[in-house]
Amino acid sequence: MIFLALALLPALVSAQGAVYSQCGGQGWTGATTCVAGATCVVSNPYYSQCLPSTGGGTTTTSTVATTSTVATSTPPSTSTASAPGGSQTPAVGNPYEGYDIYITDYYTAEVNAAADNITDATTKAAALSVANIPSFTWFDTVSKVPDLGTYLSAASAQGNSSGTPMIVQIIVYDLPDRDCAAAASNGEFSIADNGQANYFDYIDQIVAQIKAFPDVRVVAIIEPDSLANLVTNLSVEKCANAQTTYLACVTYAIQQLNALGNVYSYLDAGHAGWLGWPANLGPAAQLFANLYTSAGSPSFVRGLATNVANYNALTAASPDPITQGNPNYDESHYIAALAPELTSAGFPAHFIVDQGRSGVQNIRAQWGDWCNVKGAGFGTRPTTSTGISAVDAIVWAKPGGESDGTSNTSSPRYDFHCGQADADQPAPEAGTWFQEFFTTLVTKANPPL
Ligand SMILES: *[C@@H]1O[C@H](CO)[C@@H](O)[C@H](O)[C@H]1NC(C)=O
Ligand SMILES: *[C@@H]1O[C@H](CO)[C@@H](O)[C@H](O)[C@H]1NC(C)=O
Ligand SMILES: *[C@@H]1O[C@H](CO)[C@@H](O)[C@H](O)[C@H]1NC(C)=O
Ligand SMILES: *[C@@H]1O[C@H](CO)[C@@H](O)[C@H](O)[C@H]1NC(C)=O
Repeated sequence: MIFLALALLPALVSAQGAVYSQCGGQGWTGATTCVAGATCVVSNPYYSQCLPSTGGGTTTTSTVATTSTVATSTPPSTSTASAPGGSQTPAVGNPYEGYDIYITDYYTAEVNAAADNITDATTKAAALSVANIPSFTWFDTVSKVPDLGTYLSAASAQGNSSGTPMIVQIIVYDLPDRDCAAAASNGEFSIADNGQANYFDYIDQIVAQIKAFPDVRVVAIIEPDSLANLVTNLSVEKCANAQTTYLACVTYAIQQLNALGNVYSYLDAGHAGWLGWPANLGPAAQLFANLYTSAGSPSFVRGLATNVANYNALTAASPDPITQGNPNYDESHYIAALAPELTSAGFPAHFIVDQGRSGVQNIRAQWGDWCNVKGAGFGTRPTTSTGISAVDAIVWAKPGGESDGTSNTSSPRYDFHCGQADADQPAPEAGTWFQEFFTTLVTKANPPL
């Protein structure tokens, strides 16, 4: 099991690099050797990394360009990665305090175009107001990364003229063999075809953009679904094959972003109906905490993001019948259950929670339904007044109006969830504009727009 295998990884305690940490590359001044059980492997001229030694198993680590290999080493019977405790409180606070959030011209243009096509005056006015609500930008292909510089530049100028510093919100979402347990969001990189090196390059390009704007703060959600897939979906071959690569890539991402000093990262942690099941909480906490401590407990890794692009309430008035059997029937219960386990495992995480499309509850046939849920409405606006101390902010992570996935059964990215009775149809490809769905989000917004 992944959480036991990870328990092998010691926390960063010495001059030797921890497993998955950097151990070389141009400009690197840190440790160039790795702890026992790991070997320093050159990824590219800019980056070498401590990767688990083979230990008699089948893992190969010659270069990053190898095809995928499943880590099959047998875990020990006891865990060695217990929490040192005491000194692990992140040095940084709630990134949203005292900052304004930048809204991209891209989303504003989408919303304005959509509103133009709405004839009812009241609905149109409500639709236009959505352009003033910040959401995250998904960097789901490397070709979109240059846009980040445009946004950062505009945010810098806006902050200078308003006197309030700005946050740019991004979603880092380009893992090789992405979306390993579903189909709708397959990515551009393949592990078998140089995927890890391509991903490192994608991260390097993001880092280069951010470096030019140290006055702008970035909040990053790291790789929706990927780590949750490693908790519950290792029986899917694509996920099992991707395990080692996902961990190496996410570790690289958080370490490189952390080094910038103005990027606050939240690892994606699925949602209440996924990792919130009691049987999944412990394994999830172990995976996140081991990844975090093995990466050197990066101080700007603030915690976890939940409900990204999903439809759960932060605090449900009453449990939706589809949640039956899970005491953690909403995000607040999930977070209350997960946070102490994370803290005792060495990761005193804070949370951000997506409520962008959670305005209407009890509209799904099954809790696992995630695609363009029919009858969904915009939810609670982004705020730091969350009423829950572990929750830094309510955010809108998914830009409302962009499709979750196509309902076209002939599309290579068709996922059956997008064809179910509770999925709004016909739906265009993931990420593209879905006008009818947007109009419903507007009219059913709760609180109203
Ligand atoms: C708005 O209407 C125009 C003209 O009918 C159409 O070309 C365009 O695709 C529509 N836009 C959206 C977002 O539906
Ligand atoms: C905003 O101010 C900072 C600090 O003075 C400066 O470095 C930056 O270039 C300014 N941004 C813009 C877009 O002018
Ligand atoms: C992935 O795991 C979730 C949670 O256990 C499960 O509901 C889902 O069916 C799994 N997906 C696949 C493709 O096995
Ligand atoms: C559905 O997808 C297929 C394959 O990509 C494409 O040829 C077809 O035009 C699509 N149908 C619609 C209605 O978009």
